[in-house]
Amino acid sequence: MSLKLCVIPGDGVGSEVIPCAVEALRRVAPDLETIGADAGWECFTRVGNAFPESTRAAIAACGAALFGATSSPSRKVEGYRSPILQMRQAFDLYANLRPTRDVGLRVAGSGVGAELPPGVAPADLLIVRENTEGLYVQREYLRGGEAVAERVITAAASARIGRVALEHARRRRKRLTIVHKANILPLTDGVFRDAVRAEAAAFPEVAINELLVDTAALQIGARPQQFDVIVTTNLFGDILSDLASMWGGGMGVAPALNLGEGVAIAEPVHGSAPDIAGKGVANPAGAILSAALLLRHHWARPEAADQLEMAVFTALAAGARTPDLGGTATTRSVTDAVLGELGDGG
Ligand code: NAI
Ligand code: MG
Repeated sequence: MSLKLCVIPGDGVGSEVIPCAVEALRRVAPDLETIGADAGWECFTRVGNAFPESTRAAIAACGAALFGATSSPSRKVEGYRSPILQMRQAFDLYANLRPTRDVGLRVAGSGVGAELPPGVAPADLLIVRENTEGLYVQREYLRGGEAVAERVITAAASARIGRVALEHARRRRKRLTIVHKANILPLTDGVFRDAVRAEAAAFPEVAINELLVDTAALQIGARPQQFDVIVTTNLFGDILSDLASMWGGGMGVAPALNLGEGVAIAEPVHGSAPDIAGKGVANPAGAILSAALLLRHHWARPEAADQLEMAVFTALAAGARTPDLGGTATTRSVTDAVLGELGDGG
């Protein structure tokens, strides 16, 4: 059966990297059929809706989407709601997979990577982020002199994300770390921890441990090799995955996949990057690796996913590097290098 993909470039560098990712994806999946759709801030300013009904329908028709980025304002704008949050809600995309693999990208003075002591294996970890609740329920209000944000955690959503993480851990190195802040938030994060632990009983082969989120941040920075799969609540997963990405080449390289039942939306972790947008130097690697996650986890084509990931890592290792990785390559030239690694796709 041919693959159907709704392509939503979005704002800023999203519109630069997404076409490159589609080009690369097509090489390893020649049966790919695409539908273009619109979402984001620019779309909102044009049609008054950041996630139009026609886009929702196109995603529903395809069952899969590749989204670039949106430029969300950091002040309340009447009528605007983040399209990626709307997509997650519309399709109940409850799991956000954010892998980081240390493939040896080192950029002096940038914070990307650090030299490993001899004998230390490179990091290869997967953050499984709960994607529907926590602070992202966006229940913010003023109460007298207080600005209040509700943080909602349910046992059902915690158990559901716990199962996803445990299944990934079972297929990987069989270790799962539950990250929470139950010392300060014993009710909410207690529910989260206990629900994941209850699910773990059905996965006796997976070793479980727990870390408080601040300690987890330190450990991801200092010794990322100790982690296999990390499961955590929505905001903690958002923050920790940005941190972890520094071991994989930083924001321009980090991929993500939002997964629900039968629907998946891939998106690079990065945003619209207004500081470099329009210059043709955005790193397409994060978008291409996000497309690979669709192949691996949604379309069940692991060989094609391996091919695409290998092509990206080989091209980067051979020096196809945009300025974020210390190079002078462009979005186009990195894409061409990746396509070169893939040959004619035949
Ligand atoms: P950002 O991820 O857009 O940029 C952070 C840093 O990473 C910048 O220095 C940028 O130049 C760099 N960067 C990002 N993507 C890159 C790429 N492909 N290649 C090379 N360097 C890259 O985050 P920022 O600046 O905090 O937010 C900018 C806008 O993006 C905001 O409006 C924010 O709301 C939005 N945003 C949207 C997201 C989404 O659509 N899922 C996620 C994060 C931010
Ligand atoms: Mg983020």
